[in-house]
Amino acid sequence: MRVQIDDKEFDLMLEYDQIKKRTRLLGIQLNLDYENKVPIFIGVLNGSFLFMADLVKEVNVPCEMAFLRVSSYKGDSSTGIVREVIGLDIDINGRDIIIVEDIVDTGLTLSYLIKQLKEKKPASIQVCSLLYKPTALQAEIEELTYIGFEIANEFVVGYGLDYNGLGRNLKDIYRVSKVPSET
Ligand code: IMP
Repeated sequence: MRVQIDDKEFDLMLEYDQIKKRTRLLGIQLNLDYENKVPIFIGVLNGSFLFMADLVKEVNVPCEMAFLRVSSYKGDSSTGIVREVIGLDIDINGRDIIIVEDIVDTGLTLSYLIKQLKEKKPASIQVCSLLYKPTALQAEIEELTYIGFEIANEFVVGYGLDYNGLGRNLKDIYRVSKVPSET
């Protein structure tokens, strides 16, 4: 199946059914690993909102939830991309943290976020990402323990992920088309 979003066409890559099955398995793993703990799931907005909602429904250990944003904007030539963590209003000192991401691409956002959160002295940090593009990775992330799907280095959209702000509401995940449509 093919969809048009803004000026690009996308082909179906992962159906919601597959996502749901994989999410259930991730939940089972988390339930085992966090037995007798009370972790805090921290969703990274905007992309993680649907995955976070489905993931925590598969978790049955007591847990808390929070969301934050990592904004990034262009600094001057010496600072490059400047990132900033916005909106984390809970105390994570001594707590077990599970960062919930939509996708790890270069990994630069995530490594910045992990560094910032470590300064708040949590007991542990692990990352649960729905998608992971191993060949795009620029920064090694040892906390990346829970991965939904490894995908090729191509642009994807849907199930929380956007293209130019659009497509987050799509139930399935689509990859950018390489072949133009026949029409
Ligand atoms: P990173 O810092 O390169 O790992 O990417 C950080 C953010 O870029 C992700 O959390 C997404 O919001 C966005 N991103 C990366 N790859 C894609 C993609 O293929 N589709 C949509 N958003 C993406």
